[in-house]
Amino acid sequence: MAQVTLIPSGQDFTVEPGEPVLAGALRAGLNLPHSCKGGHCASCMARIVSGEIAYPGGRPVGITAEEVEAGLALLCQARALTDLQVEAREVKPAPDVEVKSLPCRIERKERLAPDVMAVFLRLPAVEDLHYRAGQYLDIMLSEGRRRSFSIASAPADGRLIELHVRRASTTGFTAQLFESLRPGALLRIEGPLGQFWLRGESPRPALMVGGGTGYAPLRAMLRQLVATGDRRQVTLYWGARDTDGLYEHEWLRALESERPGFRYCPVLSDAVAPAAGLGAGLVHEAMLADHPELAGFEVYASGPPAMIEAIRTRSAAAGLPREQLHFDSFDYAPDTLAKLGAEATRT
Ligand code: FES
Repeated sequence: MAQVTLIPSGQDFTVEPGEPVLAGALRAGLNLPHSCKGGHCASCMARIVSGEIAYPGGRPVGITAEEVEAGLALLCQARALTDLQVEAREVKPAPDVEVKSLPCRIERKERLAPDVMAVFLRLPAVEDLHYRAGQYLDIMLSEGRRRSFSIASAPADGRLIELHVRRASTTGFTAQLFESLRPGALLRIEGPLGQFWLRGESPRPALMVGGGTGYAPLRAMLRQLVATGDRRQVTLYWGARDTDGLYEHEWLRALESERPGFRYCPVLSDAVAPAAGLGAGLVHEAMLADHPELAGFEVYASGPPAMIEAIRTRSAAAGLPREQLHFDSFDYAPDTLAKLGAEATRT
């Protein structure tokens, strides 16, 4: 067991042997910045002021050799070899949310696309889950494993929690959600989690960029804006491989015609000559081509690590201050990645 002290706050916590430093901090209730928890997005990067860390799988892709040399580390992957002093900023949780561990039941499932399922969860009648539109929750599995899913419904939508689940593998938990887990099945969730939510106090127009089911938290934000009568300017870029992946295209088109401040820009990565009204290529390229100057926007990006990384680097060059970029990097849990690797090896 190692002791970790945060600088400058002086908060401390312990990490178990083999436990990622970030996991120890979150277990202790300290809300350090993070997103993918997979070593890709770099949002958990912090400076190791004293002590030693190691990465069991080698240097993660989200940190360069120069950054390691400069004493930086990705806390979601780093294991403490000694006691540590870590310079890291603690993120204040939203004042009106409380992280809870709750049982819930699957109320119903709806197929949204061939590989995407909407799963509706019902909480116990005596429990409430207060969250900000855009946050995520974890479904707790056996042996301490967990799966993170963005909440696709808005707080204003009522008591059912809606998740948009993309099938990640043929045998893992998402496959169970598609097949064997039926309405009535009992799950345990922990949440709300994450720092991805709409900054309601900002006067700047919002640019939203979603890749695949990265649309889910942006949808929650949109639904909350609609429900609360917020008329701020919002442009949503939603990227998918093909039209099946744009599973709420009609609703978004209807919203665009009803709501003057809202613009919807669908982008297909597999289409060479897409139908009228659909863009072709990578969704973040489409957003950046339309907005070469980003300083006047709040940007909300949600999707796979490569998309988030491209937006992080390119948006800085387009003049976007770091505090106006909010992102949620979707990554597979480590045990799913291992399984996907095994499946890829087998096929
Ligand atoms: S790299 Fe650590 S949370 Fe993404």
